[in-house]
Amino acid sequence: MRHTRVIVTHYGGPDALRVVEEECPEPKIGEVRVRVLAAGVSLPDIMAREGVHPETPPVPFTPGWDLVGVVERLGAGTSGIEPGQIVAAMPIHGAYAEFVCLPQRELIRVPSGLDAAEAVSLVLNYITAYQMLHRSAKVKPGQRVLIHGAAGGVGTALLQLGRLAELEMYGTCSSRGAPAVSGLGGVPIDYRNQDYVKEIHRLASEGVDAVFDPIGGAHLWHSREALRPGGRVVGYGLISSIRGEGLASGRPGRRQRFRGSAVFGLYIAGGWLLPGRKRVVPYSIQTLKRLKPAWFRQDLIALLDLLQQKKIKPLIAQRFPLAEARNAQELLGKGGVIGKIVLVPNEPSLESGAV
Ligand SMILES: NC(=O)c1ccc[n+]([C@@H]2O[C@H](COP(=O)([O-])OP(=O)(O)OC[C@H]3O[C@@H](n4cnc5c(N)ncnc54)[C@H](OP(=O)(O)O)[C@@H]3O)[C@@H](O)[C@H]2O)c1
Repeated sequence: MRHTRVIVTHYGGPDALRVVEEECPEPKIGEVRVRVLAAGVSLPDIMAREGVHPETPPVPFTPGWDLVGVVERLGAGTSGIEPGQIVAAMPIHGAYAEFVCLPQRELIRVPSGLDAAEAVSLVLNYITAYQMLHRSAKVKPGQRVLIHGAAGGVGTALLQLGRLAELEMYGTCSSRGAPAVSGLGGVPIDYRNQDYVKEIHRLASEGVDAVFDPIGGAHLWHSREALRPGGRVVGYGLISSIRGEGLASGRPGRRQRFRGSAVFGLYIAGGWLLPGRKRVVPYSIQTLKRLKPAWFRQDLIALLDLLQQKKIKPLIAQRFPLAEARNAQELLGKGGVIGKIVLVPNEPSLESGAV
């Protein structure tokens, strides 16, 4: 049987993406073959294509951090799982494909009746948001938080989960994202036309308890100024390395996986050394998953439960067929996307759920 997958042929711009057709992969011992129903498209995919994400594999590779799919074939040595079951996984790369083989231990069962695109949004974006809120910042009801990139994939997840946690929320976004941010319970701050530190001190005089910062670089330092004493900045991304301060697309590509991490280290150390009891702490979903795999599983199950109860509703910006992965990444790379972009290689929704 043949299938289609997308590969990154070299580090660089969207022209590095190719659609290839080849023999379907066969599951090895302990592996399961999954037919992908939905694969998330995220900035980390673009950063890996550009060669600047710490998890960038050698080329050629298939991008795709997260997927929801249906179990299709079992390898030897698997048990307690059956063809037809709906599962989610975060392979970090490999999800832009019709079929993918994964170790059984990486799969988490998805309850029946959920939309595949909504369910896949939970894997990278909502786990990131949930763990930053509850495991890094340890927020309490009534606390104030500032969410940067609040209209984006992780940003909208932070707003929905922050509302459930009864937080007072402020969110930076461009003017296009403001209605979405206020609709999800945040006070929008237009980062292009306003100084968010001044705005925060005007609206919440002492400052906020936590800032969630995906921009990175010198931005982390500015975020720190929005904190009240005792607060913390959770730094979790480097949008500045692909937009604004240094768009990598079009350059002759090299793998530069640790480009932004050194700067990160300086700000973290500075947070400890400077007076004011204001810390900068890093968050990485893949590092925490490796250190605490049970948390990842437990947190995804809790989020799937919230989705089933309709307490959260991921915003799906657009669904693209697998063959249009390049258009999907170009759209996300340009900015201004509200919510999550999803590739739907097969059906757009989960019909039958688990067997
Ligand atoms: N550490 C982790 O474990 C982890 C996990 C998941 C994601 N991430 C990181 O999180 C970041 C966001 O990912 P995503 O998939 O949510 O991306 P996304 O959907 O593209 O969202 C990013 C948002 O940031 C906004 N933005 C850009 N520059 C900004 C600025 N200077 N100030 C405020 N907002 C700004 C964009 O708004 P406009 O387009 O309107 O400007 C956009 O809404 C990425 O850097 C990614 O690598 C990290």
